[in-house]
Amino acid sequence: MRILGIESSCDETGVAIFDDKEGLISHCLHTQIPMHAEYGGVVPELASRDHIKRIVPLVHMALEKADMKLTDLCAIAYTAGPGLIGALLSGAMDACALAYGLGIPCVPVHHMEGHLLAPMLEENKPSLPFVALLISGGHTLLIKVEKPGCYEILGQSVDDATGEAFDKTAKLLGIPYPGGPGLEKLAANGREGVFNFPRPMIKNPNCDFSFAGLKTAVLNATLEHKEDLEAVKADIAKGFTKAMAQTLQIKCKRALKQAHLKTLVVAGGVSANMDIRNALTELMDSIHGKVFFARKEFCTDNGAMIAQVGMLRYKAGQVGDYKVKVYPRWPLSELKAL
Ligand code: KG4
Ligand code: ZN
Repeated sequence: MRILGIESSCDETGVAIFDDKEGLISHCLHTQIPMHAEYGGVVPELASRDHIKRIVPLVHMALEKADMKLTDLCAIAYTAGPGLIGALLSGAMDACALAYGLGIPCVPVHHMEGHLLAPMLEENKPSLPFVALLISGGHTLLIKVEKPGCYEILGQSVDDATGEAFDKTAKLLGIPYPGGPGLEKLAANGREGVFNFPRPMIKNPNCDFSFAGLKTAVLNATLEHKEDLEAVKADIAKGFTKAMAQTLQIKCKRALKQAHLKTLVVAGGVSANMDIRNALTELMDSIHGKVFFARKEFCTDNGAMIAQVGMLRYKAGQVGDYKVKVYPRWPLSELKAL
């Protein structure tokens, strides 16, 4: 059985085909980053209009790569939330109309569940149960995963998400949108220890995060170095990344201890960052545990992660009713067990 997955929650249009026995068959992606870069961030109306233009050609491309026809599909999965309402509607309308026309089910998928299970697309898959650290542009969550669909939130950010903190810090340093990847490159040339930023909330005995203070500390450093910012901005990027990596290390260690587990899964756009990956690998080595990531292209938004979860939900009989409903806000804890 083969399902088509459509992702359109933000600034990337992703389409993929997933087979229940063979796994991922094909995937195609169109990024809107160059279009939004001019404005310094995602322009929701432009995002929706672009998704409308891209989805159908990408569906054809994914089918062609898989040497398949539309009629070979068993169902169509799409991101139903969370995300930008117009962007979500573009994908939901195409998916529901196509599924209805073909007489096959449509399957609404939670975007963050897609990210969370993306490391399962790899050959070296994590085994359940595990603790997942989800670090994206809109979320920072620590989750105990007993099995797909059963998500116990152990901690979350009380203010900015990790990706948001990367993007805002990048903006202060003059790096164009989206700041995360640019900040990683800049930090590679920075010196360690020149800037020691706070490790927020590490003294609180819980698994929650707060990144607003770290962002303010970076802002103050840029103001103090207004005259020589060019000379120190790589050091600031390094200091910021180090503070972020250590905070994530401490909170992950705490969550693993609380859950009595030694397997960590790291997902979401920020998990593409090598400094963060190295810090979490170091943590898991130190406690003789295992850490799993998705390949870099599946850390950020993509259709493969939606098709994979779509197949799980389709097989569990959790299909939609062709009504185009999307959920810009949708807590993971509301998902049905699989
Ligand atoms: O998961 P994602 O593609 O979209 C959401 O669901 O939010 O995450 C996007 C976020 C952005 O904030 C982006 O700057 C960040 O992930 N990001 C990175 C890197 N690549 C993407 N942050 C740090 N280092 C990276 N290499
Ligand atoms: Zn995402």
